[in-house]
Amino acid sequence: MTETAHRKAAHPIDPMFIERWSSRSFTGEALPLEDLLTILEAARWAPSANNTQPWRFIYGIKGTEQFDRIASTLMGFNQAWAPNAGALVIAVSKTHIAAPGQTEAKFARWHAHDTGAATLSLILQANNLGYQAHPMGGIEGDKAKEIFGIPHEGYEVQSAIAIGHLAPADNLPENFRTREVPSPRMDLGEITFDGNFKA
Ligand SMILES: Cc1cc2nc3c(=O)[nH]c(=O)nc-3n(C[C@H](O)[C@H](O)[C@H](O)COP(=O)(O)O)c2cc1C
Repeated sequence: MTETAHRKAAHPIDPMFIERWSSRSFTGEALPLEDLLTILEAARWAPSANNTQPWRFIYGIKGTEQFDRIASTLMGFNQAWAPNAGALVIAVSKTHIAAPGQTEAKFARWHAHDTGAATLSLILQANNLGYQAHPMGGIEGDKAKEIFGIPHEGYEVQSAIAIGHLAPADNLPENFRTREVPSPRMDLGEITFDGNFKA
């Protein structure tokens, strides 16, 4: 069965699904722009309701002012480690969209779903290039809107993603070190139902 040092799948799956994990220790090496564009390109091809593509990404490479602007929007517990990534990305979703053949934009309740799908594509492409990628909900959305000129209405800041090369856990502040390990999952039987839903 598909297995890594810390994770074991209950059924055969592509190893990329259990090899992905959200590490916090990064080498601080800047990502080459072409790698970051490949990672963002993968996000572009995600599925979305009516192909409305509600995802938007703001990106910055380590060592640039843009990177520091993104880092400044992270909440304190993420500022302790994420600024050592090689690139930072903010995922924004467009919340109001005109249906096909219509001009009036209406609330599209799947905006976060679709932006999440694109974000996972981005993460898996980063892994495929040999990088780690760590999504963070801990971002100050209003601050990001202010800094980057994201309209207050019609868009929602979803997450930030830290991307970079894995570094030893020892490089992290002490309180993060023991958590620097791939996490387990609930059993398949707890989350899937061949019959009625069980809450
Ligand atoms: C929407 C979302 C928000 C998250 N927010 C944070 C965060 O602010 N800080 C953090 O360190 N990790 C964050 N994570 C990472 C999760 O804690 C992690 O994905 C989860 O524990 C599963 O572990 P794994 O990604 O290593 O498999 C977030 C993940 C997601 C998908």
